[in-house]
Amino acid sequence: MVWSILAGELVGETEGARALRAQIRQVAENNDATVLVTGESGTGKELTARAIHNFSARRDFPFVDISCASLPANLLESELFGFERGAFTDAGARKRGYFEMAEGGTLFLDEIAEMSTSLQAKLLRVLEQRTVRHLGGTEDLPVDVRVIAATNQDIHALMQEGKFRSDLFYRLNVVPIHLVPLRDRAGDIPLLLEHYRLRLNTLLSRNCTGFSEDAMAALCRYFWPGNVRELKNLLERILILYNPVVIELAHLAQETLSPPAAAAPFHLTLPPEGLSLAPFLASVEDELVRLAMERTAGNVTQAAKLLNVPRETLRYKLSRVLPGGGKTGTNPPGPDTP
Ligand SMILES: Nc1ncnc2c1ncn2[C@@H]1O[C@H](COP(=O)(O)OP(=O)(O)OP(=O)(O)O)[C@@H](O)[C@H]1O
Ligand SMILES: [Mg+2]
Repeated sequence: MVWSILAGELVGETEGARALRAQIRQVAENNDATVLVTGESGTGKELTARAIHNFSARRDFPFVDISCASLPANLLESELFGFERGAFTDAGARKRGYFEMAEGGTLFLDEIAEMSTSLQAKLLRVLEQRTVRHLGGTEDLPVDVRVIAATNQDIHALMQEGKFRSDLFYRLNVVPIHLVPLRDRAGDIPLLLEHYRLRLNTLLSRNCTGFSEDAMAALCRYFWPGNVRELKNLLERILILYNPVVIELAHLAQETLSPPAAAAPFHLTLPPEGLSLAPFLASVEDELVRLAMERTAGNVTQAAKLLNVPRETLRYKLSRVLPGGGKTGTNPPGPDTP
């Protein structure tokens, strides 16, 4: 079996990329465990789900994917579980649901955090009983399907807010796979650029031979908020618009490659008498935390995104910076803490 064919094209040689491949192989050996794939937009969650399917013994059966954000709750329910004729106004004929369509294979539930809590409860029942019942039906139909769910949202925060059921979370999270943002595995950026340069040359009939040194350096330094998808789209745009032999700094559209705000240069001086490094760095950190909270009007989730740290990390830092330590979380009980 050739990895590149089965896994689509999971490019990367950093430790994170290798660990992901190993994890995919391991999960694929087990045919039934549900998997929860998390990670920012464009990090490869769908690619990972397909790779798990393609490596597993379920590969000769269907891979059915559905985005839970694409349909209103009642429609999503009937699409997932199927319905009997006359179950609702438009139910002219009996229809099988996605669970049945995926029989023997894998059902990929993308953007799972968008699912309503009442549908979450029904999904949990299906996962536990391994049967589905059509809307308007009376029969419990056995289903043999592996479920892989994905989200780019902070599901722990949603659980705290009561928007995601913790029982479903634990049921889905049997095998958690977290995909790191591209900026945190920058070593893979040149490989991905090469991979997509070659691929897009073929697809678009272009003859781009590579990147100038400073263009490559800029691409490696960039923050990539849209991750691998953004990288691929940027290259595609450049090859289509400019048909370059070599991709130069000038090709990299200014607005696309603006540096992250946090990396904006600021002026530092070392006082003649010297300074104490640790408290100085702590005060810089405290000030950035304060600015992020100010800019997001106290929204911890958004502030954490702005600083590119996990929410829990920011909460811990807040407990030092702000009296009371922010609104929610594991801080010592204060007036705002439930
Ligand atoms: N490691 C990788 N190697 C090569 N291509 C990748 C890799 N990871 C992601 N891609 C490509 O990046 C694009 C986005 O990947 P994918 O759709 O799997 O991301 P996602 O996490 O599901 O994003 P979203 O949350 O926006 O749905 C796809 O074209 C995919 O082929
Ligand atoms: Mg996706």
